[in-house]
Amino acid sequence: MVTGGASGIGRACAVRLAADGAAVVVVDRDADGAQAVAAEVGGTAVTVDLSDLDAVDALDLDVDVLVNNAGLQHVAPLHEFPVDRFSLILRLMLEAPFRLVRGALPHMYERGWGRVVNISSVHGLRASPYKSAYVTAKHGLEGLSKVIALEGAPHGVTSNCVNPAYVRTPLVEGQIADQARAHGMREEDVLGEVMLGPVAVKRLLEPDEVADAVAWLCSPAATSVTGTSVVMDGGWSAH
Ligand SMILES: NC(=O)c1ccc[n+]([C@@H]2O[C@H](COP(=O)([O-])OP(=O)(O)OC[C@H]3O[C@@H](n4cnc5c(N)ncnc54)[C@H](O)[C@@H]3O)[C@@H](O)[C@H]2O)c1
Repeated sequence: MVTGGASGIGRACAVRLAADGAAVVVVDRDADGAQAVAAEVGGTAVTVDLSDLDAVDALDLDVDVLVNNAGLQHVAPLHEFPVDRFSLILRLMLEAPFRLVRGALPHMYERGWGRVVNISSVHGLRASPYKSAYVTAKHGLEGLSKVIALEGAPHGVTSNCVNPAYVRTPLVEGQIADQARAHGMREEDVLGEVMLGPVAVKRLLEPDEVADAVAWLCSPAATSVTGTSVVMDGGWSAH
């Protein structure tokens, strides 16, 4: 099961896991997008708004791999940050993963095998201005992932985060104007100064690179890798 599988990193994960032999369930609020990816990978589409926690609880969670990926961004100074957006981001990016894991673990425990992969971010480890909700949710996801790792280990379940810096996806393209406004700079300067400013390797990641890390975490080679974070931030957190 890949949440947010209709676009960007989630789509790349669906394609990659299917290539590795998985029967993929693409979960997204974007019905057409989820359907298109499901058709492409020979999987199943489920349309749901993951910020609706009752709807999350109602999902069929009999899965052995769960990729918590769905997310969104909102860029605004703390003193102006819309309170409903803060709640929405925490619900979608922290409470929904908790509900999904809570529902999926009994099935994984029954089989004695499971993989939880949480698409965190460099912002699970480092803060940036104007991203209070996102940074808070991702830091929380890091903690949740570690608890899952400790509880899941005796049952053959691992849980890890993957932490990319900026990846070339619609989520990033959609925030350039907001970043320019918040930082008081020109849109054409956002990529170089804000997004790649703290990164030593001066390039955007591609979604496939994140999907490769997810696939590795689900492979036999990563059986003892749990409770940790696979950081692919081009050296950002080396500062
Ligand atoms: N793009 C980056 O630079 C970057 C970097 C680090 C981490 N991430 C993380 O990767 C994940 C995926 O991001 P992306 O860049 O691929 O974004 P994206 O916008 O391309 O895709 C996000 C997907 O989530 C879905 N989604 C959003 N809200 C939803 C909801 N309420 N219910 C169901 N589905 C919903 C969207 O429809 C979309 O298909 C996010 O968790 C993001 O925080 C992204």
